[in-house]
Formats: sequence, structure tokens, C-alpha cells
Amino acid sequence: MMIMRGWRVVAIAVTLLVACGDDRKAPAVADAASPHPDAGRTVVERGRYIMNNLGVCTFCHTPLNPDGTRDLTRLFAGVDCFIDIDPGTPNFGCISTRNLTNDATGLKNATDTQIKNAFLNGMRTDGKAIAPVMPYYIFHNMTNEDADAIVAYLRTVPGVNHTVQPNEEPWASINNGGMPAPPITDAQIPAAAAGNASAARGRYLSAKVGLCIECHTPMAAPTNPVPIDMTRPFAGGRVFFASDLGVQSPPYPAMINVRNITPDATGIAGFSTTDIIHAVADGKDKMGNAVCAGTHGSGISPYAALDKRDLADIAEYIHGLPPIVNDTSPNCAGPPVP
Ligand code: HEC
Ligand code: HEC
Repeated sequence: MMIMRGWRVVAIAVTLLVACGDDRKAPAVADAASPHPDAGRTVVERGRYIMNNLGVCTFCHTPLNPDGTRDLTRLFAGVDCFIDIDPGTPNFGCISTRNLTNDATGLKNATDTQIKNAFLNGMRTDGKAIAPVMPYYIFHNMTNEDADAIVAYLRTVPGVNHTVQPNEEPWASINNGGMPAPPITDAQIPAAAAGNASAARGRYLSAKVGLCIECHTPMAAPTNPVPIDMTRPFAGGRVFFASDLGVQSPPYPAMINVRNITPDATGIAGFSTTDIIHAVADGKDKMGNAVCAGTHGSGISPYAALDKRDLADIAEYIHGLPPIVNDTSPNCAGPPVP
């Protein structure tokens, strides 16, 4: 069972968001600095890579086996009560991720436009607003090409019959509340150094189609429409329950602080780009300590299989971020994530 009490704050923030006048059907921002990075891949393969590695969709949408690995026989079949913000109260607090497979209980009967409108704009295929646990407010900024690749791949995912458990309050009210919260804007994402094409690609991979910015940006004030505070991007300090990061306590601490990954002394000032790559893909920080998140590391991590070039570009961008002072200690000191 997942618990993430911090989301209660988010829920309140979102319910305040009434009568938002944004054009929610606006197309995703085109990003000239991010051409299709892997020319050798077919469109379906690109979609598979985004959903299983870069965008970590599988982290939330695929049920787990008891040993913490993903149940690949139910790939993208949705997770019942993915987060319960109040496990003590019956019929309150659960939000489920959706079944994205080619079954009538999943996305088989949804149009391409409906599917894209869900992950880019926050409108569920049944016409309800998506709660901002689903990072559509980041994916909104991916290229149309990548959005199409996701849909092309989803059409190949084997159908699994699974009707997910309905969302409980406070999530149900968000779903029924009309407009979803507006996405983050391109201008809010720190620029890459001028003339640095690798960093420009890394910016796209870290903050538009990938979720580095989602976990590594501090939690926003309750009045903010989305959970992250985009005035302090990548400054860390979000606190998750271990299980929300795909690891168990013990051996990991019950609460895990996400690190400041800006190049400040309180962040990763001493890290080279190679150190950043190791932290992301091997789950070891510069000092050789474990990075306590199931996204980072080896066996259960979607990032272990990131392309070498993507990793290099992500590291180049993160290495050049504007430094922000934010001491996120104590840091986690658990064993290497399996
Ligand atoms: C942090 C967890 C998380 C991640 C990562 C995530 N999702 Fe979701 N997704 C959710 C949740 C939770 C919902 C349901 C929200 C609700 O019902 O309000 C959802 C809903 C959806 C829906 C709506 C389906 C429908 O029936 O309307 C689509 C489509 C979707 N996600 C696609 C994706 C794709 C594609 C990615 C990766 C690019 C992704 N998701 C990554 C948590 C996540
Ligand atoms: C699911 C949430 C999550 C996502 C997504 C995520 N991280 Fe992390 N990251 C963490 C947590 C949690 C830690 C460290 C916790 C600990 O060990 O104290 C961490 C640690 C790190 C560190 C090590 C910092 C240090 O001081 O040792 C780096 C570098 C890093 N992440 C970069 C990235 C990059 C780049 C991405 C995107 C490719 C990314 N992270 C995506 C949660 C996340």
C-alpha cells in the first residue's frame, strides 16, 4: 500500500482551482532543440522507450510483484489505490492509476486524440479532470512527435482486463471539478547554456518528456495548481514515503528527502557529469552511497536502461543548472537499491 500524505496538500490546492480560463486543448509546445534523439528506433520503439524508461510511466501504471519488480504480465494494467493519503480512514484517500492497455477496460476504445489529451492536457478519456498526481503538467511540453510515439506504442501493448478501483475523496472531487490544473510553462524551466546543444537536449529529456524535474523540485505551496514549486526548479527537498519511491522501509528510512541537484554547495556542486550519470543509472552517488529511489539504480530501475547519449545530455544540462541554496539533509543512507 502506498501512502503519500503530502498529497493532501495538493488536493486542497487543486480544489481551489476553479474557473480556470486556459485553453486546455492547446497543442504541446514544439521544441526545436529536441529532434528525435534516436534515429535508429522505429516510432513504436521510441514510444516503448519513453513509457518504460525516460518518462517512467511504467513506474506508476504497472502493478508490482511481491518482490518489488514490475509484473510484466500486467504491463500498464493500472494500479489500484496507487496512493492512499489516509490509510486509516476507510473509503477515503485512494487514487488509482489507469489501465492503459488495449482492453475495453483500458484505452482500446479511446481515440488517439483522447489519449493524448489525457497525458498532455489532463483530461481523462471519460471526460473527467485528471488529478495532478499524473504528471501531465510536465508531459504537456513534449513534442507532438513523442506524443504520437507514445500512442503508437500503446496500441501494441497487450490488453489486460482490469477495471481500476474508482478514486476516493478528495480525488473524486478533483476528477469531477471541471478543468485540470494548468501545466508548467517552457519559460519556467531553466534555460540550457547558449550554444550547448547537448544541454538543450538534456533540458528536454529532464523536464518535458522525463521526470527529473518532477521529483527534484520542492513541493509547492497549497495555493499552487501543481505540486511542484517552479520558482526553485531542481532544488530538491520533496519528502516521500519510501514506498512512494519504490523502496521498502526497512532497510530504507521511512521518509526520504529528494536531493538538491543544482550545482550549489548544498546540492551537487562537486559532481562531474560522470558522477551525475552514475547517480542516475547506477544508483550510487559521488561518495559511493546508495541513491534511495527505485527510479535510480539497477534491477528495478527504469533509468538503468537509458541511452548513453540521453544520459550524457541529461548530465550536461543538470551540471549547468543555476545553483539554488537548499539543504536537503539528512540524506538517505540505505543499502544499494536492488
Ligand atoms: C507519478 C505517477 C504517474 C506517472 C509517472 C504517469 N502516470 Fe499516467 N496516471 C497516473 C494517475 C494517478 C492517473 C489517474 C489520475 C486520475 O484518475 O485522476 C493517470 C492517468 C493517465 C491517463 C488517463 C487514462 C484514462 O483512462 O483517461 C493516461 C492516458 C496516462 N496516465 C498516461 C501516462 C503516460 C503516457 C505516462 C508517461 C509518459 C504516464 N501516464 C505517467 C499516474 C502516473
Ligand atoms: C521518483 C522520484 C525521482 C525521479 C523521477 C528522479 N529522481 Fe533523482 N533522486 C531521487 C531521490 C529520492 C534521490 C536521493 C535520495 C537519497 O538517497 O537521499 C535522488 C538522487 C539523485 C542524485 C544524487 C544526488 C546526491 O546528492 O547524491 C542525482 C544526481 C539525481 N537524483 C538526478 C536525477 C536525474 C538527472 C533524474 C532524471 C533522469 C532524476 N534524478 C529523477 C528521486 C528521483
